[in-house]
Amino acid sequence: MKPLILVLNGPNLNMLGTREPTQYGRETLADLAQGCADSAHNLGLDIEFRQTNHEGELIDWIHAARGRCAGILINPGAWTHTSVAIRDALVASELPVIEVHLSNVHKREPFRHLSFVSSIAVGVICGLGSHGYRLALSHFADMLREQAA
Ligand code: DQA
Repeated sequence: MKPLILVLNGPNLNMLGTREPTQYGRETLADLAQGCADSAHNLGLDIEFRQTNHEGELIDWIHAARGRCAGILINPGAWTHTSVAIRDALVASELPVIEVHLSNVHKREPFRHLSFVSSIAVGVICGLGSHGYRLALSHFADMLREQAA
């Protein structure tokens, strides 16, 4: 059985493609999901790719990942900068977490420089667009291979 990685996307990421294209590019969420699925296939991983605009739903998905998934790739969107609850849920999952942002949050408004997730993540990737998701999946594949060896 292939390891399962949960790929989570927070609020407003369903608007990709039309939302602030100078920040987030022209790729849609469906394009992003397809790119992740292709990478996962090549890396020998299974993924579940999800997006929600409801914080409680995201937290329920994180809880349900515990013991079922091998890792969580998360772009928490604006909740990155506001949500202790998402950070706590990620810690409770006891899973390795990689935080990904399409844009370089450090080049943007100061309120985007704080992340409640970064300090509990294995790593953080930002500013590389959808390539960041593929890099994160590749890291999970390497990490899980090393653990299994
Ligand atoms: C984002 C950056 C966040 O600051 C913003 O609120 C988003 C998207 C990114 O992917 O660059 O919604 O997480």
